[in-house]
Amino acid sequence: MNAAVRAVTRGALGKGWEAFAVRNGYAGLLANTIEPLMARAVGGIVQTGGTVLGSARCPEFAQPSGRAQALRNLASRGIDALVVIGGNGSQTGSASLAREGFPVVGVPSTIDNDLHGTDVSIGADTAINITLEAIDRLRTTASSHQRAFAVETMGRDCGYIALMAGIAGGAEVIAIPENQITPSFVAEKIAAAYRRGKTHALVVIAEGSKCGVNELMQHYEANKEAIGFDLRVTRLGHVVRGGAPTAADRVLATRLGAAAVDTLAAGKHGLLVGLLRNEIAATPLAEIAGRTRPADAKLLEMARVMAI
Ligand code: F6P
Repeated sequence: MNAAVRAVTRGALGKGWEAFAVRNGYAGLLANTIEPLMARAVGGIVQTGGTVLGSARCPEFAQPSGRAQALRNLASRGIDALVVIGGNGSQTGSASLAREGFPVVGVPSTIDNDLHGTDVSIGADTAINITLEAIDRLRTTASSHQRAFAVETMGRDCGYIALMAGIAGGAEVIAIPENQITPSFVAEKIAAAYRRGKTHALVVIAEGSKCGVNELMQHYEANKEAIGFDLRVTRLGHVVRGGAPTAADRVLATRLGAAAVDTLAAGKHGLLVGLLRNEIAATPLAEIAGRTRPADAKLLEMARVMAI
């Protein structure tokens, strides 16, 4: 997100506009923690994760009274447009602001990569790479000790991170919410890998899957003998949201942040600027709010063949 903050700030200043930082997302709009942003204030942040502006979940913003307060605060600063960098919750909020007449442009940022209007959101590539590094590292012990490992990664209700990291990491099984499989199905895949003489088995589980790590471990405890491999679990949790962003994420965030400013400069708003087929594309926020985009479960069949 920091690369996007930098791109919006410098893009706006480059056009001779003033730029402001809203601290802690919509909570800061309500609390009026808004301050001018200069070019130097966004220096040295492109390589850092998270957001220097701070972030917060803000249920009050879903209420018309909360948004009315936010609009009063924006007006008191003479701010006439807003760029909202965030995922589904943030863009549902920006759609509400747009509906109420305030010029807003959304920039998609969520590791879950489940937003409509963009093929890829800021943060997803970094989260995939962190998950992949964990898979690669676990494979060392898995292969040396002939064990199975189940790795749980984030994604809320979307299996995108697990699917991509699972394919890149050569996982034996990938469990995602878009293709619900049972613990006994996963266990059978692990057992089949054992019977085929594999030295290890790696299972990648998206946190929203019906077969979560707890369900899998319960099944394993009751069926150890039949599974063959010793099975261990690693839950990555918020680890996948930390650390330095990948080059792909920095470039994406810079392109989208700059595009958000260009969109406003062209007099357009009420849009999410995303990347579709590697081109900047704007989609009405009204079409995006409340919708999610599933991971492409068709890729699971390819992953299955690769794991034979
Ligand atoms: O939406 C991004 C995300 O990291 C999800 O993958 C995860 O389920 C959720 O946020 C975690 O939210 P919190 O940090 O509020 O627990």
